[in-house]
Amino acid sequence: MTPSSPNDSPRLRSRDWFGKRDRWGLAHRAWLRSEGFSDRVFEGKPVIGVCNSWSELNNCNAHLRILAEAVKRGVWEAGGFPLEFNTLSLGEMLMKPTTMLYRNLMAMEVEESIRAYPLDGVVLLCGCDKTTPAQLMGAASVDVPAIMVPGGPMLSGMWHDRELAAGTDVRRMWEEVRAGRLGEEQWCEIESCVSRSAGHCYVMGTASTMASLAEGLGMTLPGAGDIPAVDSRRMMIAERSGGRIVEMVREGLRPSRIMTAAALENATRLLMALGGSTNAIVHLVALAGRLGIRLPLSSFDDIAATTPFIANVKPSGKFLMEEFSYAGGVQAVLKELTPLLQLDAITANGKSMGENLKGAACFNREVIRPLREPLLPQGGVVVLNGNLAPQGAVIKQSAVSPHLMKHRGRAVVFENNQDLLARLDDPNLPVDENSVMVLRNAGPKGAPGMPEWGHLPIPAKLLKAGVKDMVRISDARISGTSFGTIVVHVAPEAAVGGVLAIVRDGDEIDLDVAARRLELRVQDAEIRSRLAQWKPPAPHYERGYGRLFLDHILQADEGCDFDFLRGSSRDEGGTPLARYPNPAL
Ligand code: FES
Repeated sequence: MTPSSPNDSPRLRSRDWFGKRDRWGLAHRAWLRSEGFSDRVFEGKPVIGVCNSWSELNNCNAHLRILAEAVKRGVWEAGGFPLEFNTLSLGEMLMKPTTMLYRNLMAMEVEESIRAYPLDGVVLLCGCDKTTPAQLMGAASVDVPAIMVPGGPMLSGMWHDRELAAGTDVRRMWEEVRAGRLGEEQWCEIESCVSRSAGHCYVMGTASTMASLAEGLGMTLPGAGDIPAVDSRRMMIAERSGGRIVEMVREGLRPSRIMTAAALENATRLLMALGGSTNAIVHLVALAGRLGIRLPLSSFDDIAATTPFIANVKPSGKFLMEEFSYAGGVQAVLKELTPLLQLDAITANGKSMGENLKGAACFNREVIRPLREPLLPQGGVVVLNGNLAPQGAVIKQSAVSPHLMKHRGRAVVFENNQDLLARLDDPNLPVDENSVMVLRNAGPKGAPGMPEWGHLPIPAKLLKAGVKDMVRISDARISGTSFGTIVVHVAPEAAVGGVLAIVRDGDEIDLDVAARRLELRVQDAEIRSRLAQWKPPAPHYERGYGRLFLDHILQADEGCDFDFLRGSSRDEGGTPLARYPNPAL
């Protein structure tokens, strides 16, 4: 075997490992050949990493090894050399206290794995909520050519002849159980009907939203955002993505050329049109920070104001992801948004967003509305400001009860999640349907990790009285499957001395969604006086990753990234820092 000269493929990072005739070149090839590869794989083929977040601990990603095989077929066929590797996987259901505590850790692992190994391009296999933004953030930072293949949503949940909507209906039915309207036997039956196949949750929750936004950003092939996990077309798109990444390496099409300010604007428009998860705001801000692009919270509100909500998908709408996909999916929504999009934005297939959308069509107008007949004239997710959230807070207005869009109520304050769980169903809790439930110390530092605790359950005594929604406010996040009048991401959070820290039982709070206001009706002098007496809670961690997290985590309005991870990985001359300087050392 004669390895090709390093000059044969000057753009291939992998040649620094495999293209040399010296002792290190031999060692790099020889040790990899122990896996049974012949000398042909070193003949200048681009080395493609298949970055797999497969894990049996993460049911949403448990099928990704099958998808990886399809990707590899495509890579081989296009003349590349695929090598699959695993990273940390973040499974919403089993990982405690919250996957958000580990999103940045996974992003770092993705970034450093790509940087440290002889990879010329990478295919990112993701699924559950945080795996998608973590991979996008890591890929953005290292800036080696990358394409994403989401795992796709599960089949719709079915209980007898009744459709179930993942976490959304589990929450609703748990409230029915607590109200005494649903029995133990039915509750057990539901357990085996709600999660019926491989894939991620099948409403427009965080996983579906982020997979869709990956497509809106241009980081997937068209159609990859919504095809069901077990649909054979998902295998086909994985195979095609494997072929495409080889071409992207040859074209030098890096994430920084795809995920531009225009692409982020397109993704934000898509988020609003989908009525997608509030979590997407945190992730998009963090991603923009990696790319050196300014994306203030106000830009979400500006785009929400000019983007109709048109995707009739739960939890804000009526249908599930399967029906959304059959109706034309993300491409059909983007097609509707054409007059509002940055159509020149380049996408992973090398074509512009505008070119891709020429062939897109909608097949069910009940599921995806025309732009002129939207479900709501404005986007689903909006940003609130006011003295209770000087750096912003977020509410999904598409899920708000109409009678609570403008509301004044007295606060019922819970010091933390334990306090909430301990007192929620106390018959003596001084709460009625007009109260405003406040949960604090549930933010990035306070919880820590900003868990999805913001969907405060309605107290049992009010549920029994027929109350279905109340105003709830916290510095936590909510699951994308949540519904109701829920204000989250209050910044700054209570644990760093935000005004949320000094709200007392009985204080009046004003929520005005249309005016984007969230106000604590307490005099400024009194707020200052209470804050002067406030003492920060003891830190949750003294060592290890938890300590690193607490020392460097940013607030929600800054994307909850680590302060030292912001900015691009390029040097001042624009040279990607992904090239390992000398693998012989
Ligand atoms: Fe993974 Fe819902 S639990 S997407």
